Amino acid sequence: MPNAFISGTGFYVPPRRVTNDDLRTVYGIDTTHEWIVKRTGIEERRFADEGVGTSDLGLLAAQAAIEKAGIAKTDLDMIIFATLSSEHCFPGSGVYLQEKLGLCDGPNAKFVPALDVRNQCSGFLYALGTATSMVKSGACKHVLVVGAEVHSAALDLTARGRGVASLFGDGAGAVVVSATEEDRGVRAWKLGADGRFADTLSQRIWDIRKRPFIPQNAEGVGQISPEFMWAYMDGKLVFKHAVERMVMVLMETCMMHGVTGEAIDMFFFHQANMRINQFIQQTLGIPEEKIVHNIHRYGNTTAATIPILLAEAEETGRLRRGMKIALCSFGSGFTWGAAIIDW
Ligand code: ACO
Repeated sequence: MPNAFISGTGFYVPPRRVTNDDLRTVYGIDTTHEWIVKRTGIEERRFADEGVGTSDLGLLAAQAAIEKAGIAKTDLDMIIFATLSSEHCFPGSGVYLQEKLGLCDGPNAKFVPALDVRNQCSGFLYALGTATSMVKSGACKHVLVVGAEVHSAALDLTARGRGVASLFGDGAGAVVVSATEEDRGVRAWKLGADGRFADTLSQRIWDIRKRPFIPQNAEGVGQISPEFMWAYMDGKLVFKHAVERMVMVLMETCMMHGVTGEAIDMFFFHQANMRINQFIQQTLGIPEEKIVHNIHRYGNTTAATIPILLAEAEETGRLRRGMKIALCSFGSGFTWGAAIIDW
């Protein structure tokens, strides 16, 4: 059975910086830089311009990852696209990315499967686990895994929405998961979910049990009330479960691989909230130099946080061949996951 390793990483964030003060001065949100930094660690985030879709961000991250992997795009056997902000209800962003990559063009067109993963902040780890299994089974040699989000279009950028809107940003990260006979790669991964909390962090927009699924006015125009239009989050409950689940799944994944936390050279945590990650760090006694953060620059980019962290750490030389690293995430669903990789 081959090993599955990450042969290339890439990321892209849109150029427009939105600082905490911009949320107040440009968007009129009743907030302060101090409130947001103290509770989340976020100083600024990126917002894509109108007209830019999730697969557009994913494309630029994917192209960088494919180039780093040293393969041609036609070497890909599968695309897995993790996002909660796909362009449309259906189809998902994976097929748009396939087309934008040019995989459907010309005599060398390659109509590889394109799978969309809808596991929110854990989406990248769900996608990585799936890609690893596809590679280890021999079904695929190279799988493109993308995590990308355009949150800025679906944030309630008013005082009413400030508790959620100040947390999120746009961005994309990508990796190529490839087969190798070398002794390296994804060593262990574990995923979990607890559907009892499905509504605790959700953006419901429509209700398929209703007829029609979105209420219409007399003119037949769909009308969505604010509580359905925008994301809902019970922040304190999310915080409590995030720290418990992330600590547990990290320990379980270390046990699966037969190592203690001390054997891990670097930890890549989902970037939802600096305080969640500091809590985990303190609970597990992880030294500061083993942790990478970028939440202060990008906010929470949901499925994109971990692949962006990986790509940045590789680009800056912090993440090097031979390191043993751990990835860990938690999010809406509730869903969570962790993975250990020999880089
Ligand atoms: N600026 C100023 N005031 C705000 C803001 C803001 N941006 N947002 C909320 N407030 C106000 C609220 O309106 C409330 O005011 P009130 O007391 O007059 O009603 C007050 O601050 C306290 O609100 P809480 O929601 O209780 O604030 P809390 O201390 O819980 O902090 C936070 C909110 C930061 C979201 C916190 O609950 C948290 O960190 N939760 C974790 C959730 C998370 O990180 N989610 C990310 C997505 S899920 C994931 O990726 C894991």
